[in-house]
Amino acid sequence: MSGTVRWGVLATGGIAARFTEDLLAMPDSGAEVVAVASRTEASARAFADRFGIERAYGSWAELVADDSVDVVYVATPHSAHREAAGLALEAGKHVLCEKAFTLNAREARELAGLARERGLFLMEAMWTYCNPLIRRITELVRDGAIGEIRTVQADFGFAGTFGAEHRLRDPALGGGALLDLGVYPVSFAQLLLGEPDRVQADALLSPEGVDLNTGMLLGWDSGATALLSCSIVANLPTSATVTGTEGRIDLPRDFFHPDHFFLHRSGREPEKVVTGPGPQGLSGMQYEAAEVTRALLAGETESPLVPLDGSLAVMRTLDAVRDRIGVRYPADDRA
Ligand SMILES: NC(=O)c1ccc[n+]([C@@H]2O[C@H](COP(=O)([O-])OP(=O)(O)OC[C@H]3O[C@@H](n4cnc5c(N)ncnc54)[C@H](OP(=O)(O)O)[C@@H]3O)[C@@H](O)[C@H]2O)c1
Repeated sequence: MSGTVRWGVLATGGIAARFTEDLLAMPDSGAEVVAVASRTEASARAFADRFGIERAYGSWAELVADDSVDVVYVATPHSAHREAAGLALEAGKHVLCEKAFTLNAREARELAGLARERGLFLMEAMWTYCNPLIRRITELVRDGAIGEIRTVQADFGFAGTFGAEHRLRDPALGGGALLDLGVYPVSFAQLLLGEPDRVQADALLSPEGVDLNTGMLLGWDSGATALLSCSIVANLPTSATVTGTEGRIDLPRDFFHPDHFFLHRSGREPEKVVTGPGPQGLSGMQYEAAEVTRALLAGETESPLVPLDGSLAVMRTLDAVRDRIGVRYPADDRA
């Protein structure tokens, strides 16, 4: 690949716009957005006009057939990630796919298999893993700054008023708190502790059968535990704490894209760790965009920051949680 990575955006909803804004605002990013696709031409055209994108397509097939696109950013609801990312990979495109990576672990395995078979780059858009302070925390933990981890507490929740037509209420679209919000505390715990050995969970379900309010208890043979929750009916703190044998790390509100955290080492004064100066006014997605761009220019097929095996392990945990709380999506029954 030459010195520039050419992006195609697939879907034109809320996160597609935020990601595109960050991508375009990155100075000297080595990235440009050359095309956008939507299920309707009008929506693709409106998105293209808004962001100054050259080509607008009314179908995903046209986008993935565009020779000038190197990497496709999939920003549909989770239920369409398998199909959209699969289509792009089949057409020889690299892919960045929004979280939750897929609806279930089977779909995630299929996508990872396809990418590996074809030697193409594939990454879940788990932007938390690319955040500089989250990376700093993993280094601190690895270097023993807080000793051996005993417990992770993390949550993500807000009290929304989602009508029955909203994707968050629709089982066919992978609705509920778990795949949209719970994926963050689960991914955070697994970043630090790996895949759990045991998964317990309980939840309040909606009449449609999606989870509204979910508590999870993950356990590791090491003795570590993670107490996690997610909700679309309660304003949770959306914070995280990692406690080890020799200290603690506290991440305040919006722990999944922090600009500071507190490090408490036993016997020492607490330290506030902050992000260095960077581009102002961005949503925080520039770090994952930069990581994909870097990896592609380096000829890598996986990001060391967001490895596919990690995304597969998270999907297995989300499947286990759904099994415990009795949430099934129609896609689970497809072979
Ligand atoms: N990283 C983050 O911080 C973050 C934040 C929010 C959401 N997300 C993730 O991003 C994805 C999209 O979320 P969103 O909030 O952007 O949703 P959204 O605003 O509802 O947009 C999703 C877009 O996908 C397309 N779409 C809608 N229904 C579809 C269907 N049934 N099949 C295929 N495409 C459909 C539509 O685009 P067209 O009309 O152009 O086809 C729609 O605008 C989800 O997986 C979500 O978890 C990530």
